[in-house]
Amino acid sequence: MKKEVTIAASILTANFLSLKDDLLNLQNAGINWIHFDVMDHHFVENLSFGAKILSDVCKFSSNINIDCHMMVKITTLKVCDYLKPFIILPQVKNITLHYEALTEEQLKEFMQWKNPGFKKGIAINPDTPISKIYDYLKDLDTILIMSVQPGAGGKRFLDLTINKIKMLVKHIDNNFPNITIAVDGGINNWTANDCITAGANYLVAGSYLLNSDNSVKKQVAMLTNYEK
Ligand code: DX5
Ligand code: ZN
Repeated sequence: MKKEVTIAASILTANFLSLKDDLLNLQNAGINWIHFDVMDHHFVENLSFGAKILSDVCKFSSNINIDCHMMVKITTLKVCDYLKPFIILPQVKNITLHYEALTEEQLKEFMQWKNPGFKKGIAINPDTPISKIYDYLKDLDTILIMSVQPGAGGKRFLDLTINKIKMLVKHIDNNFPNITIAVDGGINNWTANDCITAGANYLVAGSYLLNSDNSVKKQVAMLTNYEK
């Protein structure tokens, strides 16, 4: 059976002086999902970028879909107010918050938010057991399993991820057939294959696509050349 797998490109490790070239190369290679890693120097050690840069990225093309991975702690605003500058951008289709970064109250607000106009995701760190998110599956579109400790691109894929994917697939069984199982960090042609075999259907790849001596097109072709 043919598996539908989406590849999203993380632009975290792009050279921002030539970001437009990378976006163009990704688009020409058939990538229409951009994964936008927002880091706050609080939940994770690094500081990356926010809604202003994202709105500029969105001006590149109305045809790209944006997946916002929010590695942030929200301290002064309600979740919905914090996310407003991202949600108003029409290309933003997915927003994923971290389980570990949210207070119980914030988690509740996010779960009870019906029809927000984007697909709702929760990300979990490598050391968080997958069972922690089981109760929230009914209110979510995506579970993003971190296969590296969040905070930077270019890290090595953690093998424990595969078991987590399998456990989630087993738990979901036939109950939530539409949930997206996403994996983020250290994705290359080998780890991609392992994740897909285990049951993932959405992969985030950054440095493998953008920081290689090969062209973006070649890297995308190598990544998508999995057993279908
Ligand atoms: C890590 C980020 C990832 C990362 C992916 O904290 O969430 O999206 O940038 O980059 P690679 O593919 O280089 O691990
Ligand atoms: Zn990410």
